[in-house]
Amino acid sequence: MPKELKDDPLWYKKAVFYEVFPRGFYDSNNDGFGDLKGVTEKLEFLSWLGIDCIWLLPFYASPMKDGGYDISDFENVDPSYGTFEDLIELIDKAHSMGIRVISDLVVNHSSDQHPWFLESRSSRDNPKADWYVWSDDDSLYSNARIIFTDVENSNWAWDQVRQQYYWHRFYSHQPDLNYDNPEVQEVMLNVVKRWLDLGLDGFRLDAVSYLFQRNNTNCENLPETHEFLKLLRKEIDSRYPNRVLLAEVNQWPTDLVDYFGEDDECHMCFQFPLMPRMFMAVRREQRLPITEILSLTPNIPENCQWGLFLRNHDELTLEQVSDEERDYMFSEYAKDNRMKRHMGIARRFAPLVDNSRSIAELLHSMLFSLPGSPILYYGDEIMMGDNTYLKDRDSVRTPMQWTPDRNGGFSLANFEQLYLPPLMDPVYGYQSVNVESQFKNPGSFLQWIKKLITVRSNYQVFGSGKFEILHDDNPSIFAFLRYFEEQIGASELIEENTVVEVDNIEIIDQTSANKVLCIYNLSRFAQPAELDLSKYKGAKLVELSGRVLFPQITESPYRFTLGPHGYYWFEITDQI
Ligand code: GLC
Repeated sequence: MPKELKDDPLWYKKAVFYEVFPRGFYDSNNDGFGDLKGVTEKLEFLSWLGIDCIWLLPFYASPMKDGGYDISDFENVDPSYGTFEDLIELIDKAHSMGIRVISDLVVNHSSDQHPWFLESRSSRDNPKADWYVWSDDDSLYSNARIIFTDVENSNWAWDQVRQQYYWHRFYSHQPDLNYDNPEVQEVMLNVVKRWLDLGLDGFRLDAVSYLFQRNNTNCENLPETHEFLKLLRKEIDSRYPNRVLLAEVNQWPTDLVDYFGEDDECHMCFQFPLMPRMFMAVRREQRLPITEILSLTPNIPENCQWGLFLRNHDELTLEQVSDEERDYMFSEYAKDNRMKRHMGIARRFAPLVDNSRSIAELLHSMLFSLPGSPILYYGDEIMMGDNTYLKDRDSVRTPMQWTPDRNGGFSLANFEQLYLPPLMDPVYGYQSVNVESQFKNPGSFLQWIKKLITVRSNYQVFGSGKFEILHDDNPSIFAFLRYFEEQIGASELIEENTVVEVDNIEIIDQTSANKVLCIYNLSRFAQPAELDLSKYKGAKLVELSGRVLFPQITESPYRFTLGPHGYYWFEITDQI
């Protein structure tokens, strides 16, 4: 039975997100490009998987030189993706299935094909002359780093028409909008309203840390940016209930948390610094990279939430690690130079972990239990591969593999017409890796992750509970508690439990479970663990996926044996 959309302002704290690249998801009209109707046709699958919110990559009109992040009309759908009506149908149908839909909002820049830019560049005194950042001097703001270091050598580009330089933080075909101009702020707020009026549940705010420029600063995280975000949030709160703003801010934890404000800026931020450290920890077989970054991460306001991810449509970014750590990551995960892009690694999850099922389970169960809401990238639920021979980040944007049939069931167009070739190699190709066969195979990764989603969704403590790391002398063991501070009388709540079935295993909907213990073995060998759980003396451990009862907790250290890359989730309860 489909879920219902609840009137819940904090829905994003419990949600599992799923990132869709509409171009690569499903081609409904067989022209070789995935489209919005294609996403609508696959909602049944997403509903079956159990996700709560789709994040749509940009679908706005665009010359598509940067996957649609180069927008030439903020108010319309790109014709290759379909129509306005297609988007409304997608949102409405998703809502009827209890799934929310957010989309990317590229606030920082537009395409150089946008009519605003064409006008702005036409002279120095046209009505939009100050809508972008122009200068005669390309040494201005020289403290700002270049983001795409491998393809751009300056943040300024010379414009032949206006005979001036314009500012761009990303590709030179993506001029930055000038937020010092109140007209620009207003027009972007109107763009926001246009899409929210259609029923979108919020936005991922693309590249939101670069909105302003000031001399002698690195032009990131400036106070003016936070003021604009507060204004945006106020507008949303005043007219649009239950919406979410998810910030894409690739910064160090102390700067990152500023984007939550005092719960008056963004509701969510991606946990960028944690992500590469999860890959580091598993390769080093030590918890330290994870525990260290978590200890450096300040607390965030009660209603705010981290967005946790392992992979996305970009390179695995290594901006938030030290030079030494970056070298380590490149040497371990990008053995070939063609795997490197910008300041990161353009590979998908499965090839990064050498297609290891046990590491995939380990990292995903961490992703689903650490503080935050997990975000899956399309195709990672079937452990799709990549094609690092494709340019830029196309390596991780190949067509979704639905079936073992022609073009992986993505499209009936001729192979030559497809926006990118589907994977066809013997390990990751669509004949071996596809939704249809994993759906039929109870032991598949797809079925495993569906079950993980169900278990997590049944325990609210993962979404909103507090977090405490437990010490173990063994450096390969990573253990922590998720708990609610208020000990609600569990016996009263137990009567409210409902039972759902996954793979014939009954899972009790324990919204009442207020203490969960998670324990992970980061090593490829079996490991012993000993945890001091004495403060819960007398309680018992119940393993969450099978509801298996473990021995009672005593004064003595509790001993576990974990298999290679093993993990457990336990409820700590005295109600049994
Ligand atoms: C964000 C997007 C990335 C894009 C860039 C410029 O970082 O995730 O795909 O290239 O912004 O818009």
